[in-house]
Amino acid sequence: MKSQEFIDLRSDTVTLPTPEMLEAIRHAPLGDDVFREDPTVNRLEEMAASKMGKEAALLVPSGTQANLVSLMTNCKRGDLIFVEAEAHLYYYEVGGLSSVAGLQPWTIKSQLGAIDPADLEAAIRPKNIHFAEPSLVCIENTHNRHGGAVITPKQIESLKQVVDAHELRLYMDGARVFNAAVALGCDVKELTRHVDNLMFCLSKGLSCPVGSLIVGTMQFIEAARKNRKMVGGGMRQAGIIAAPGLIALEKMVDRLREDHENARYLAQRLAKIDAVKIDLQRIQTNMATFKIDSSKMTDTVFLERLKQKGVLALAQGKNTLRFVTHYGISRQDVENAAAAVEEILGKPA
Ligand SMILES: Cc1ncc(COP(=O)(O)O)c(C=O)c1O
Repeated sequence: MKSQEFIDLRSDTVTLPTPEMLEAIRHAPLGDDVFREDPTVNRLEEMAASKMGKEAALLVPSGTQANLVSLMTNCKRGDLIFVEAEAHLYYYEVGGLSSVAGLQPWTIKSQLGAIDPADLEAAIRPKNIHFAEPSLVCIENTHNRHGGAVITPKQIESLKQVVDAHELRLYMDGARVFNAAVALGCDVKELTRHVDNLMFCLSKGLSCPVGSLIVGTMQFIEAARKNRKMVGGGMRQAGIIAAPGLIALEKMVDRLREDHENARYLAQRLAKIDAVKIDLQRIQTNMATFKIDSSKMTDTVFLERLKQKGVLALAQGKNTLRFVTHYGISRQDVENAAAAVEEILGKPA
């Protein structure tokens, strides 16, 4: 089976570009972006900055590079950064924050992805010759390993008070920040207002083939541009990446609501199955994370059986699995996925 023949619920990174995006790629005006002469990239960076309520933006190839370049730009080597214990940039990015950016991560556990300001306050130690210098606090919104949980503007504002009191900076890995805004029914600027800088991805729920944007002050973005070049992210006719990005920002944000409704529907169906443990409170955006009864089946066998029925999911820990909804996944697809799980684990009584 080709990948398109599966109902692929592993991640929203598997989305394919829309026909309009492919057309836009063909017709995009191009130039050399290292010389800052690609008009399509320039337009996208202006649009991204304006949507986020910040001064400037920078296109990079991936979310991982966006995080790395942002860390390098916010901090100096040897600094300490506070990160939520399951943050993507700590958990999944090959340790680049230490090996490339030279930073010491200090993890803070949370209930649902949002660092409690009191826990941050408790983690910040008084200045001491033995300690690395703290410079940055990182949040992730929505939070991947917390099942797409949303951090609210109020939570960010409270955290920022502690950040400011200690003269640190606040950075947001907003790979899916538009999912958070759509779930909360607020303008995305509400979520960016209290962070100093952030990144968001075009290549996840917004369906672009490639690309993420770093957003912040003009000065920050100029320094990030230099760091991007250092790690090999200076691209030439990058307008072919930016062209679908413009469409994503204009047309693909509001439809994320559909993905959230499909994830909730799927979660509600899963919740009725005895061998599935799922907390519906945690289903806030486009992810449905759940556990299966290990006495009944291992996650490896479950995933294999699911695949045989034409459905793909991802394991995120022992017997913890997730389905992610996205553009290209219809209500019928999630109904079929739910039916496949019911057939494997037993129909609800
Ligand atoms: C929260 C978060 N940040 C960063 C990334 C990294 O993005 P990329 O896969 O484009 O490097 C991901 C990828 O899934 C993510 O979920």
